[in-house]
Amino acid sequence: MLQVLHRILDRVRPVPGPENRAGPAIDERIFHRPALAEDLAASLMSRSYASGMFLTAPRRTGKSTFIRHDLIPALERQHRALVLYADLWEHRAEDPGAVIVGLVASALKARTSAAQRLLERFRLSRLKVPGLELDMDKAPPAPALQPSLRQSLERLSNLTRRTVVLIVDEAQHTQTTAYGREVMFMLKSARDQLSNRELLMFRLLMTGSHHAKIERLVRYKHEAFYCAPLKAMPTLGGEDYFEWERAAHAPAFLPALEAMSQAFEICLRRPEVFHIACQAASAHVGNRAETQEQLLLRMARQQIGAERQEFLHRLMRLDPLDQAVLRSMAEAGPSFAPFFPAAGARISTLLATMPGMPARGTAPDDIRASLARLCEANLVWSGDGPYVFEDAQAAVWLKELEFSRLTADSSAAGRAATAPASSGSTPSRRSTRGAPAAVA
Ligand SMILES: Nc1ncnc2c1ncn2[C@@H]1O[C@H](COP(=O)(O)OP(=O)(O)OP(=O)(O)O)[C@@H](O)[C@H]1O
Ligand SMILES: [Mg+2]
Repeated sequence: MLQVLHRILDRVRPVPGPENRAGPAIDERIFHRPALAEDLAASLMSRSYASGMFLTAPRRTGKSTFIRHDLIPALERQHRALVLYADLWEHRAEDPGAVIVGLVASALKARTSAAQRLLERFRLSRLKVPGLELDMDKAPPAPALQPSLRQSLERLSNLTRRTVVLIVDEAQHTQTTAYGREVMFMLKSARDQLSNRELLMFRLLMTGSHHAKIERLVRYKHEAFYCAPLKAMPTLGGEDYFEWERAAHAPAFLPALEAMSQAFEICLRRPEVFHIACQAASAHVGNRAETQEQLLLRMARQQIGAERQEFLHRLMRLDPLDQAVLRSMAEAGPSFAPFFPAAGARISTLLATMPGMPARGTAPDDIRASLARLCEANLVWSGDGPYVFEDAQAAVWLKELEFSRLTADSSAAGRAATAPASSGSTPSRRSTRGAPAAVA
């Protein structure tokens, strides 16, 4: 009888085994990284990642694209995993906890109703196998008796006889609501109970673009995933990628791969921005005034320069105290201690260098209020830990600034903004010399 039941259940399991499954559809607009996907998938399914895997990479570097187009197909193909994927930024208006719980619930509902339809067809009223019970005569459970997240994940794994892999993209967003935080603890409990069974039932992958925010989830003792492994997701950037990108433009567009690599760094390893720079260079490839390499590097700098200018204009609209707080935060890095006297003294010095600002002391309450405004403006973030920049690149640009040239006057902003920009990740020699001199 059990064999018959399993045959019925196999009808519910829609994905054929890896041996006879066609490969994923290849999207030509995407540079695929199958080897990396296979590696990561194998790691995630191994015992070393029974506590879950936390991956970070900076913004717009291709995390979601890689997960959707390479990693999920590898998990499905090579490990027969049932992958549930939630991008919490895609559902920003909804409670992140509800998005995760809803995703699991609807996957379970879809599988359960498929099983129920089959039972009806086979004229069975009840099906009971380890970990799963379907009873056609029973009313659905009352809301108070809804299964826990752990129970739902377990049922889903039993029903499909596959490992459920839950991927939460932009997982730091769970920390924005009480329910989101609670769901993280529910997931921890599910992980603890399901990850080490003889039959692998559950794996969890969390990713995010903000390293400090994701790091908090695994470094702080009171967080659900304290001690879970944290990894940097490799960004794009090998020779094969540059060749692939080069081939997407005019046939005459043939800059050396070394220059392409430099341009990619200038674009902060973001494929979208790099593509635009290559497109712009490719359009001017007949221009003999400069080499293709020079042209490409100039286009890349132009892209990043425009972003820097936009940031500086935003900075200029802030209260001078907020500008000085940001700058001192950028200088201090992780050791920024805003309410200690040294920070107050530094902020006062910075303020005094700004044209038209009278010399005055800065009290901790002023700094607290300023940080609250900066958090409100989405320039700074703080959970219950240290203050960090929302965008790490802002710190690099702030450190490059000649602070004495900053005023609320937008033409000055324009002058500061059009000062030569560095590659983005390395401060220029000119500005690192200029900034301290200006604020000393
Ligand atoms: N492998 C790739 N090949 C080609 N283009 C890519 C690739 N990965 C990403 N891109 C380009 O970069 C853009 C950003 O990618 P994606 O949304 O995956 O990044 P992300 O790191 O998840 O961004 P966010 O921080 O906003 O969540 C995509 O819209 C696409 O244009
Ligand atoms: Mg993303």
